Amino acid sequence: MSTRTKQATQASDVPHHIAIIMDGNGRWAKRRLMPRVAGHRKGVEALRGVIRACAERGVSHLTVFAFSSENWRRPQEEVTLLMELFMRALENEVAKLHENGIRFRVIGDLSGFSERIQTLIRDAEALTRDNTRLTFTVAANYGGRWDIVQAVKKLMLSGVPAGAVNETTLAEQLSIADMPEPDLFIRTGGEQRISNFLMWQLAYTELYFTDALWPDFDAPALDQAIASYRTRERRFGRTSEQLRSAS
Ligand code: IPE
Ligand code: IPE
Ligand code: MG
Repeated sequence: MSTRTKQATQASDVPHHIAIIMDGNGRWAKRRLMPRVAGHRKGVEALRGVIRACAERGVSHLTVFAFSSENWRRPQEEVTLLMELFMRALENEVAKLHENGIRFRVIGDLSGFSERIQTLIRDAEALTRDNTRLTFTVAANYGGRWDIVQAVKKLMLSGVPAGAVNETTLAEQLSIADMPEPDLFIRTGGEQRISNFLMWQLAYTELYFTDALWPDFDAPALDQAIASYRTRERRFGRTSEQLRSAS
């Protein structure tokens, strides 16, 4: 087992790190006979509420999937509108995140984005880098497999001999190597799959799926997910009896 995979036994009251696939924006809009982008806009609002709720509950890391490396396959018009929305959000929301002590980061292959977006991302990361209340990470043009491949490339370029490659040295090259692995994974929108999100890091994460569409996901819905998490026994391969005698 990777040394980064926690040896802890019980799900602590509040997960340190929550990872979310924010799905269902399109269906939310369709049900209202609105264009899909209206759902994405509403999704940004929902995200604002969830960031606030996480900070209030003492969650230290929130990582959300905003745009997958596969989402380029969507109709050109939707991709363009999503990029515009991403840009507007970067322009309008970052100051507020900073005021609230939130560190902002983006993971993924940023070379796929426009210069303007790349600059906004770099500026936002630089502005908020010393904030410690909550680290809020957006996965954009991200894929879990891409992450593992870029980690392997970095290892090879560093000239490390094959014998020195292990779970720890590989994990150190991943995009969120400096963060605890997610304790709780949430996917809204009813689908029960990982869709190439954090493949490596989710190895021992507690999974929670809900039919709620992302624009409807609010603080009480987050609390339900956390309540479910609290009922889980995190065994990391051990037996229940071992956990009880250790505590
Ligand atoms: C998630 O909502 C947002 C992105 C993938 C950008 P969807 O757009 O996938 O919404 P559904 O799944 O079609 O309802
Ligand atoms: C996954 O959602 C990615 C994001 C939420 C950004 P999708 O809606 O694209 O996932 P699939 O393709 O249905 O699995
Ligand atoms: Mg979807």
